[in-house]
Amino acid sequence: MSNETLTITDNRTGRTYEIAVEHETIRALDLRQIKVQEDDFGLMSYDPGYVNTASCKSSITFIDGARGVLEYRGYPIEQVAENGSFLETAYLVIHGALPNREQLDEWTAAIRQHMYLHENFKALINGFRHDAHLMGVFVSAAAALSTFYPDAKQIHDPQARRRSIHRLIAKVPILAAYAYRHSMGMPYVEPDPELSYAGNFLRMLFMRNEARYKPNPVLERALDILFILHADHEQNCSTSTMRLVGSSHADPFCALAAAAAALYGPLHGGANEAVLRMLREIGSKDNIPGYIERVKKGEFRLMGFGHRVYKNYDPRARIIKRTADEVFEVTGRNPLLDIAIELERIALEDEYFVKRKLYPNVDFYSGIIYQAMGFPVEMFPVLFAIGRTVGWLAQWQELLTDKEQRIGRPRQIYLGARGREWVPIEKR
Ligand code: CMC
Repeated sequence: MSNETLTITDNRTGRTYEIAVEHETIRALDLRQIKVQEDDFGLMSYDPGYVNTASCKSSITFIDGARGVLEYRGYPIEQVAENGSFLETAYLVIHGALPNREQLDEWTAAIRQHMYLHENFKALINGFRHDAHLMGVFVSAAAALSTFYPDAKQIHDPQARRRSIHRLIAKVPILAAYAYRHSMGMPYVEPDPELSYAGNFLRMLFMRNEARYKPNPVLERALDILFILHADHEQNCSTSTMRLVGSSHADPFCALAAAAAALYGPLHGGANEAVLRMLREIGSKDNIPGYIERVKKGEFRLMGFGHRVYKNYDPRARIIKRTADEVFEVTGRNPLLDIAIELERIALEDEYFVKRKLYPNVDFYSGIIYQAMGFPVEMFPVLFAIGRTVGWLAQWQELLTDKEQRIGRPRQIYLGARGREWVPIEKR
């Protein structure tokens, strides 16, 4: 063996093992040879929350959490957000390379071709209560899409996979817009494929009785940037869910619905909604010190702060902060922004946050922008899901074309009772 190895001595037996190290990683299965008795199961690693376990090899997104670096297919997020459109970014994330003009036109046309929903979808959305949470509607509707496209089950056929990818990218904003219009009691608006991805989405949401809806270019670009910033973020909770469900060979519509369900939680994609509720609860700058004291006592967390991977400023938060200034020039300044800026200033100087390397994350400012643009808070995680659809699909495709991947199936350490005798109910 080369010296790229790890030598492990098992002090229980005195035996020594040499295990290969590749990419700064050992294979968990190599631990299995470490046993006390020949018929033991063998050593496993215990990792709740998968904080130090690599579940796959990937070439999609690179994050260096300590330095605050994020790259899609090797391109720094700052360059992608500055120069790219969302559909161009989607092509990059899914195909691994930037498209030339012809490829981008073909890709855009393929997605536009699928920009509609079956008429029955209207009845499906109408079946929800008017106050149903929009993310609940989105998750359900994404799963329901699966029933309209049985060919999506052919996950090993590259053509069928491509069709599912086009369909999902085209249809998620329509699902989202229908859910929103239903909650407002407004008629559904058909997509206008002549508009940009973000512009068309704004039309489907906010069009009233204009003859021709023209999205505000600043808001259209801001939304496009927000979609770009959310496009992928490697093996987070929802992406791992997409991969886990995908690993059972479920169709991508159902796998995506599961991923969206994972995103719904307030510790993940629901955080931007939680940030806004928090800022409203704080109410004024004077209340910030008291609020921070309660966070430090462990009463609750400061939403939009901290990240499993970033132990530095989230690079997406920096871009969003800049976008916020442009949006507020159009919409007028949002008083919650002043509370957020002051909250960030105080938290970044506070020993509690400094010691734990807790910085604002992508969700800290995104909610304030969304609110200024006229989105209700229940829509925030849905907006996250629209952007992240691209990453989920890229990761799903990578999983299916990776020969090393198998159905996901973690192990457990069983600590419960064993071999008990069933007691009849009248004797318990
Ligand atoms: N406010 C106050 N304390 C915090 C926070 C916070 N937001 N986040 C972590 N901590 C503390 C935590 O209490 C712990 O302290 P101690 O060591 O004294 O017990 C320490 O920091 C480490 O926390 P952890 O729970 O081990 O960190 P984690 O990596 O498991 O959690 C997180 C990451 C994002 C779930 C967490 O930081 C959090 O709950 N943040 C608020 C929710 C949020 O903004 N989520 C959006 C994440 S970014 C968007 C996305 O990717 O979905």
